[in-house]
Amino acid sequence: MPQRVLAWEGGVYCWVFSMTKQDLSSKRQFAHDHEITFDFAELFFSRTDERGKIRAGNDVFQRISGFHWQELMGKPHNIVRHPEMPRAAFRLLWDRLHENKPTGAYVKNRASDGRQYWVYAIITPIDGGYLSVRMRPSSALLPIVSQEYADLLNVEKSENLSPPQSAQRLLQRLAALGFPTYDTFMGASLTAELASRAGHMQRPPHPAVALYGQLMSASKFLLEAASTIADGYQRHRFVPLNLTVQASRLGDAGKAISTISNNYEELSGQIRLGLDRFIVATERVSRAIHEGAFLLATSEVQDEIAAIFGREMPSPHFNHSAEASLLRQQRNRYRRRAVTTIFDVQQEVRNFAEEVFEIKRLSAGLAAIRVMGKVEAGYLETAVLSDLLADLEAFQDILRRGLDDILGLNDAVKRSVSQLVIEKPVLEEL
Ligand SMILES: Cc1cc2nc3c(=O)[nH]c(=O)nc-3n(C[C@H](O)[C@H](O)[C@H](O)COP(=O)(O)O)c2cc1C
Repeated sequence: MPQRVLAWEGGVYCWVFSMTKQDLSSKRQFAHDHEITFDFAELFFSRTDERGKIRAGNDVFQRISGFHWQELMGKPHNIVRHPEMPRAAFRLLWDRLHENKPTGAYVKNRASDGRQYWVYAIITPIDGGYLSVRMRPSSALLPIVSQEYADLLNVEKSENLSPPQSAQRLLQRLAALGFPTYDTFMGASLTAELASRAGHMQRPPHPAVALYGQLMSASKFLLEAASTIADGYQRHRFVPLNLTVQASRLGDAGKAISTISNNYEELSGQIRLGLDRFIVATERVSRAIHEGAFLLATSEVQDEIAAIFGREMPSPHFNHSAEASLLRQQRNRYRRRAVTTIFDVQQEVRNFAEEVFEIKRLSAGLAAIRVMGKVEAGYLETAVLSDLLADLEAFQDILRRGLDDILGLNDAVKRSVSQLVIEKPVLEEL
């Protein structure tokens, strides 16, 4: 039977019911199994100093945490840490913050009563510390990441991984899921969360964020097309050499083929270099798009939290108007960065288009060599030559099909980027 006792809770003495061990363990189980839900419209923030100690936040943050302000102020942010979070996630977070990089992450937190709640947190360096703005996550990525965290936690324990080793594992897992870098993951996950949240709130998606969504999908296909071409090149890279060998075996009769194979060898070298540059340009486009998406979405979320906080009643625990002004400054800073990045994306897309043009030129050269080779091989009627030319044709086909895909996507990318420039946030208002 629970007994009434006087306890110190939330900075005040109050009557609570003491529980037996059995009561306590079933309460913990209940709390563990139960999740705190909050509205999609409810954004919340906390601001910490450089060491991660809580300096301010909004009403929703305090309410969901279940702690009183007196318990939160000045406390390390791990006060809401959930034991099921792998250390890797925080290691990655702090490594990035120490490099002054904004970070988006899924975090499972624990409220004062033991209940859990998932957030998508956007943590950015701010004067004198860090700002975390959080929303309720709901995209298809949440269960995937949740499972990854659970697996990683097990591995951390069973293999006794150090935080850097575990952070490396997390990055490897994300790469296996199609996010080659953490920045790629952040761009994709934050925009996915915003899109899903807009759906739940029956709001239209933010136009520029939606455009970035299209660009991210396009950049994924561009990378795939580029790597298909590069694989094709690798598989057929010995064709010019074999052609030269065959030509030399044919003596005088193979002179024309020898000239053709020399040209092909020369062109093949150019194709290799062109493909290297082309892949670098594709990766740069993809990186710029994902970074731009993350920054734009961040500035949108910061805009919203600044408005929400502006409507909240001032708290006696910190200077409300100073906090509101910090939130607005941060929103302005990220909006500027987001707009600058849109122009970076535009520039990267232009560079990429030049590399595509170069590959197209090389592809035309390859087609000419194939035709000449076919004519010569027709005179000589040797099976080996015909096989080699079939190999050349196969590579040319891969290149042509890849280029067709890329050219189609490139046009779509250019259109989306022009639209993005039109839709970009208005800086004059700041
Ligand atoms: C601005 C900011 C917000 C943070 N928010 C959370 C949070 O919501 N939940 C959490 O567990 N850790 C959060 N952290 C990370 C914690 O500081 C800490 O690294 C983490 O809880 C791991 O704690 P531990 O190293 O004591 O295990 C935040 C850090 C910063 C700088």
